[in-house]
Amino acid sequence: MTDAEKPKNSHSALANIGDDLKVVRDNMPFGNVASNEMGTFFICYASTFSTVEKMLNQMFIGNPAGNYDRILDFSTAVTGALFFVPSMDMLVKFSG
Ligand code: HEM
Repeated sequence: MTDAEKPKNSHSALANIGDDLKVVRDNMPFGNVASNEMGTFFICYASTFSTVEKMLNQMFIGNPAGNYDRILDFSTAVTGALFFVPSMDMLVKFSG
């Protein structure tokens, strides 16, 4: 589907914040039949958190505000975590 045809509130329209701001994505599905809970662990790697933050703002607040990601009508974000991984250069500097 071309960008012109894509609904403005589609996940792929809102999560795409331009060719210069990309992330590495990894979704791992999970499911528990007993508790009827299922979904995906969304993992994303970026050189700076601001890129991820922009994507989350587009998804949850919307662009323009209110035009939020349609994926949220079907999926509920339950929790989240942010990890910082220092570069080798940084580790070498820290080691003195
Ligand atoms: C329930 C959680 C999520 C699901 C099931 C999901 C699923 C998907 C799917 C199916 C695509 C299209 C892949 C393709 O066209 O090959 C996609 C694209 C994408 N998603 Fe998600 N996603 C989720 C959460 C997120 C979150 C939280 C972010 C950002 C923080 C994100 C960022 C992106 C980006 C950047 C793209 C590529 C858009 C583009 O450049 O075309 N996604 N996602």
